[in-house]
Amino acid sequence: MEQLKGLILSGGKGTRLRPITYTSAKQLVPVANKPVLFYGIEAMAKAGIRQIGIIIAPETGDEIRETAGDGSQFGVEITYIPQSAPLGLAHAVLTAEPFLGTDPFVMYLGDNLLQGGIEDLVDNFRSNKPEALILLTQVPDPQNYGVAELAADGSVTRLVEKPAEPATDLALVGVYMFTPRIHEAAKSIQPSPRGELEITDAIQWLVDVGAPVESHVVRGWWKDTGRLADMLEANRLILETVEQKVDGQLIDSQIEGRVIVEPGAVLERSTVRGPAIIGAGARLVDAYVGPYTAVGRHCTIDSSEVEHSILLENSEVRGLDGRMESSLLGRDVKIVRGQSQPRAYRFMVGDSSEIGIL
Ligand code: TTP
Repeated sequence: MEQLKGLILSGGKGTRLRPITYTSAKQLVPVANKPVLFYGIEAMAKAGIRQIGIIIAPETGDEIRETAGDGSQFGVEITYIPQSAPLGLAHAVLTAEPFLGTDPFVMYLGDNLLQGGIEDLVDNFRSNKPEALILLTQVPDPQNYGVAELAADGSVTRLVEKPAEPATDLALVGVYMFTPRIHEAAKSIQPSPRGELEITDAIQWLVDVGAPVESHVVRGWWKDTGRLADMLEANRLILETVEQKVDGQLIDSQIEGRVIVEPGAVLERSTVRGPAIIGAGARLVDAYVGPYTAVGRHCTIDSSEVEHSILLENSEVRGLDGRMESSLLGRDVKIVRGQSQPRAYRFMVGDSSEIGIL
């Protein structure tokens, strides 16, 4: 039997996560201190996929290459596939055609997280042999997603991108399985009004020519981490699954519940209430870290309270009067109470940043 390959889409613009995406790929933002992208690679490795192609953009491709490497850390072989511009998910598939050849493949959006993994899906695809298998999940706001309409046997009859009046509440999850027929479909469609070759249009093309397109409703949760609120929610959901493991040093400090303290982290007169993770080499002094917080490597939290937040490496939070929550700090960010007069807010903030103050 032909081998199943993996295709992970890690290009794109990431406009909804600016300013983080001005300097870094959104697929590398850590969820529970691990880049989002790694969850997809690991899900593929677990499903027995050995050859994975990763679509990268010109701006962030190098950083993704450096972080994920040749794939040996996951037991897979990674091939990087530069996409000249983010011209759509179906354009990404066409860009990957030389890598994919005539093999069937799993396509996974690099900023998505799927709780249950993809093993069930791969089994389903192997036994039923449709031309495409899409994953669906019920959502309260289908007008914001690609939405599927199904026949009684679960086969797909119609896909509509962000319908004003959705016929169902079944949204497309960012994980798909295809036979090489998808290349023909992607070549047969036209760009959408937003100028992208849409994967929903390519799948609709398969439906229209009578190719079997099946669907599978996921059992666990699914998260697209393209926006801040979703990123925090994904962090919360992953932290819910961690077990307590304290490798760092605790000095007059308390740990409550499921907390990971990585090696080299030091807590002094601090309290961490889980689920939470404190990264290697981080320093907490007179601090409180509350549930659903991921503190990156070498961060400092001093005389401050932080909850339901993600801090990327080397960031500092010092002397805040109010508790910081629902926040995402990039790398090397400093949020510090100033001592000098006149007492005033002093900001140096990049484009598209957001600051909410008490
Ligand atoms: P999106 O989140 O839909 O697009 P985006 O990354 O451009 O983000 P935004 O809407 O905030 O500007 O993309 C889903 C995933 O697919 C994401 O990991 C980026 C990737 N992608 C590509 O690799 N190539 C593309 O042409 C597009 C559109 C997305």
